[in-house]
Amino acid sequence: MTVRFIGAGPGAADLITVRGQRIVATSPVCLYAGSLVPPELLAQCPPGARLVDTSGLDLDQITAELVAAHAAGLDVARLHSGDLSIYSAVAEQVRRLDAAGVPWEMVPGVPAFAAAAAALGRELTVPTVGQSVVLTRLAQRATAMPAGEDLATFGRSRALLVLHLATHLVDQVVAELVPHYGAQCPAAVVAMASRPDEVVLRGTLADIAGQVHEAGIRRTAVILVGQVLGAEQFGDSYLYSPGRDRSGDGPAACAPGPEQS
Ligand SMILES: C[S@@+](CC[C@H](N)C(=O)[O-])C[C@H]1O[C@@H](n2cnc3c(N)ncnc32)[C@H](O)[C@@H]1O
Repeated sequence: MTVRFIGAGPGAADLITVRGQRIVATSPVCLYAGSLVPPELLAQCPPGARLVDTSGLDLDQITAELVAAHAAGLDVARLHSGDLSIYSAVAEQVRRLDAAGVPWEMVPGVPAFAAAAAALGRELTVPTVGQSVVLTRLAQRATAMPAGEDLATFGRSRALLVLHLATHLVDQVVAELVPHYGAQCPAAVVAMASRPDEVVLRGTLADIAGQVHEAGIRRTAVILVGQVLGAEQFGDSYLYSPGRDRSGDGPAACAPGPEQS
């Protein structure tokens, strides 16, 4: 048997990959991350499947479920919200599975930041304005941040920031970023991206905190800050430039062309 960790996407039941959906539909055991995984997805588990909500379990209890399924010869679909590559707590689970000799795989999913960009109708990188995206969070009592991964350090780059797990600290975010980005820098908050109760707030660092308080948003939201959110005057990408060498011998498709450098 195998434990398959699956990124279940940001909340819409049809934003899981085809591969992930197939594994859910064929696995006799499904562990899922509480309210963050849509019920319509869980309804696709096979009849009689063992469904376990892990929101009330600790790491040892989750590991015990996975090891027990392995001992019984049962495949497991292990669902996490968004993608597995950020803030999913998969790292410590696979470490435990390796120690227990339980095989596992990872199936990627749609992360919240991508769903937020879609809700905003924005590409997060545009030529000359912004070509980098920083996915981060704030230091809190839950998990400390490593040295050097603070807002001031990222702010000095003026790259687009996407802040997770931070909406309840929006006043602190604004206070720390205004010195670097300026009060008129575009900012947005997307809550419950892709879900029926999705909320999209657009503004600047000067007014985004007030909007968040007024809307009562405290969780399941990302804060985006950066000039790229308001970019209108920018050159076309080299990707589809008429002057680009399409023979296959030219530079890589996403490399900036001479006209952009
Ligand atoms: C534990 S992290 C999980 C992130 C997830 N692994 C991903 O790929 O997006 C949870 C945080 O992700 C963000 N998040 C998750 N789902 C979201 C959604 N549908 N809309 C907006 N933000 C979301 C929020 O910042 C939330 O506090």
